[in-house]
Amino acid sequence: MRIDIITVLPRLLDSPFSHSILKRAQDKGLVEVVVHDLRDYSTNKQKSVDDYAYGGGAGMVLQIEPVSRCIEHLRAQRTYNETIYMSPDGETLSQGMANELSLKQNLLILCGHYKGVDERVRQHFISREISIGDYVLSGGELAAAVLADSIIRLLPGVLNDETSALSDSFQDGLLAPPVYSRPADFRGWKVPEVLLSGHEGKIEAWRHQQAVERTQQRRPDLFGEGAESGGTKPGSTES
Ligand code: ADE
Repeated sequence: MRIDIITVLPRLLDSPFSHSILKRAQDKGLVEVVVHDLRDYSTNKQKSVDDYAYGGGAGMVLQIEPVSRCIEHLRAQRTYNETIYMSPDGETLSQGMANELSLKQNLLILCGHYKGVDERVRQHFISREISIGDYVLSGGELAAAVLADSIIRLLPGVLNDETSALSDSFQDGLLAPPVYSRPADFRGWKVPEVLLSGHEGKIEAWRHQQAVERTQQRRPDLFGEGAESGGTKPGSTES
C-alpha cells in the first residue's frame, strides 16, 4: 500500500511515522508513506497557498491552484483508490472504514488548514471526506496521522501477532475484554482465577462475556439498530 499526504505542515507528520509500528511497517516495505509540502506547488515567490475568502470573513482559504497542481502531479504517476479530505464535517472514522481502506492500494490524503479549502477542490478532486470526531483540530495533519495509523496497523504482517488486530475493540462490534499481566496478585488485587486456569475454552467464554458486559455498560449504542460492526475484515483479499 502507498499513502500520499498533502499538507502545508509536513514536519508535523515526521514524528507519527518515525516510531514504533508505523515505522516498522515502512521499514518492512508493507506501506510507503510519502508526505508532500503543498508549498512546493505554489507558483509565487512567497510560496503562499492560501488567500482571503470571497465574500469576506475571518480566516484564509487553501487555494485550488496549488492543490490541483499537486493532486494532478501525483495522479499522473499512479491511480488512487480514494482521494480523502480530512475535515470535521466529513464521515466519522470507524473501524469498518479503516478495515475497508486497508484493502486499497493507493490512498491520497489532503489535510485541511486555516478556514478550509476552496469548495471546488472538494467538488472536483475529493472522493471521500473523513472526520476523526466531533471536535475541531487546528489542521488535518493529526487527523491524517490517526487515519493512517488505523489503516496501517491492519495490513498483513504489520502487527507481530497476526490475530491481534482482529481481537481489537470494535472488530466484532464489541469492546475488547480486560487484560492482565504479572503479578497475579498485586496488593491483594487479584487476576481473575479463570485466566490462570489454562483452560482455553473457559478463558474464551469469559473474555466474550466480559466484552459483552463492557459493551453493554459503556457503549450500549453498539447493540442498537443499525449499529456498525467492524465491517470488512482486514487482511481479506478483497480489493
Ligand atoms: N480537521 C480539523 N478538525 C478535524 C477533525 N475533527 N477530523 C478531521 N479533520 C479535521
